[in-house]
Amino acid sequence: MTEAGQWFESDPLWFKRAVFYEVHLRGFFDGNDDGSGDLRGLTDKLDYLQWLGIDCVWLLPMYPSPLRDGGYDISDFFTVHPDYGTVDDFKALIEAAHQRGIRVIADLVVNHTSADHPWFQEAREGGPKRDWYVWSETDDVYEEARIIFLDTEVSNWTWDPLASAYYWHRFFSHQPDLNYDNPEVQEAMLNVLRFWLDLGIDGFRLDAVPYLYEREGTNCENLPETHAYLKRLRSEIDAGYPDRVLLAEANQWPEDVVEYFGDGDECHMAFQFPVMPRMFMAVRREEAAPLYEILERTPSIPDSTQWGLFLRNHDELTLEMVTDDERDYMYEEYAKDPRMRLNLGIRRRLAPLLDGGRDEFELMHAILFSLPGSPVLYYGDEIGMGDNVYLGDRDGVRTPMQWTGDRNGGFSRADFAALYLPPLMDPVYGYQAVNVEAQLRTPTSFLRWLRRFIALRKEHPVFGLGSYEPQAADNPRIFAHVRRYEEDIVLCVHNLARSAQPVQLNLERFEGLIPEEMLGRTRFPRIGSLPYLLTLAPRGFYWFRLVQG
Ligand code: NOJ
Repeated sequence: MTEAGQWFESDPLWFKRAVFYEVHLRGFFDGNDDGSGDLRGLTDKLDYLQWLGIDCVWLLPMYPSPLRDGGYDISDFFTVHPDYGTVDDFKALIEAAHQRGIRVIADLVVNHTSADHPWFQEAREGGPKRDWYVWSETDDVYEEARIIFLDTEVSNWTWDPLASAYYWHRFFSHQPDLNYDNPEVQEAMLNVLRFWLDLGIDGFRLDAVPYLYEREGTNCENLPETHAYLKRLRSEIDAGYPDRVLLAEANQWPEDVVEYFGDGDECHMAFQFPVMPRMFMAVRREEAAPLYEILERTPSIPDSTQWGLFLRNHDELTLEMVTDDERDYMYEEYAKDPRMRLNLGIRRRLAPLLDGGRDEFELMHAILFSLPGSPVLYYGDEIGMGDNVYLGDRDGVRTPMQWTGDRNGGFSRADFAALYLPPLMDPVYGYQAVNVEAQLRTPTSFLRWLRRFIALRKEHPVFGLGSYEPQAADNPRIFAHVRRYEEDIVLCVHNLARSAQPVQLNLERFEGLIPEEMLGRTRFPRIGSLPYLLTLAPRGFYWFRLVQG
């Protein structure tokens, strides 16, 4: 174990009880007054994250990059983008985070590089790295592979005049895919992993993992070869780096995502993509059915693995894993202005999606925290930050973190004109109205509520480790389920409706137990043989521990 790892007791399943926090480094805090967030800035703000109760920070790519895709276009895997600092700053961040009991994982883009990467430049020129990328003389190969960035790309092939060939890319045309059939590429990416692991990093969010290999006659996603390579990455971790985690970004249907866990020998975690849009659907339709259905459809996963649950992230709210009708519904309800749409998704932040409703914020977090998995929060959502749909691509959800009501929202002391993006300044979500300082001074703020809620969840390992069973309810507006771990039984009941609702739950199997509401520890009437009646406030919820009398 590295020096930086000494702060923790060995705990290979730490990620199952953790609360994650996604940081857009560029937008979090500017430590050197140049208008861009950086590693020193994040290090300065670790006390805040510790106060909030965060266990693990996930960094968006911090590598050198022309930044044409937020850093997911890497031009050097072995150092840090100069805007963000140095490798020494990275080490200092890890050390300072570990001292506070916080782990740090970072994005690693395994599927592709920037076209600026020297590997690709060498490949284009016909050098020894030619075969590190995927080339073709025609653009009609792998035709069954879909185009992901529908708004900008017309093909997965782009002609390169220098190479006199087409190269393959699943995302932007400036992001050529690496050729994993080449053993040198396989080895090169393992070296990248080792480099950061040796610096003390606690793991990686593996970007775009379904697309590593291509095979004619398939959609080039989730191929067996891809799983075999990921297992190889995992065995490297298991052999030399205990307590680290691989988190797969595989935006796929549940039955395909679960393959990324293997038999507990592939990725430790994977994002629960399909459940996310259904939380938004359920709350807008005031109906639990979309949630029950997708959870029913989700296969169980090995005990040593975990779902990553999220409401929003740095991308558009993806609608790839919904039916056409559901997508139409989501656009109609959540993206009336065409500017809010991007590819197959909605480029908006959580608070504006929920019309700024405090009850809705709490309800959505309650559902998120109650489901099997570890929650992943997106920076700024803890204070209800807004978005700016007039900025291009996904920049509207990546604006500077709003720390105070001061100049630049307290994000940077640089001149406004030097900021990487303008902070929000509108009267509803602008930094003078929405910021950390103001919410710290307000005992009833959402930030303070969320902190208490994070603490509550962490007091009860059942949320991270327990089983899930849907709880039948006689009211379709109620989403109820039971979580169990060893002796702990928790009943979660959520009212999706805008109006007060009664519900009767058949809790016969818990007869004799007493529901104790978890936020206030109030004991409710003992469960008998009759259906258990509850009334819930609009968008209200109860979490109960079922305890012996
Ligand atoms: C997934 C990332 O989340 C997204 O931001 C990026 O654009 C694509 N991968 C392509 O790298």
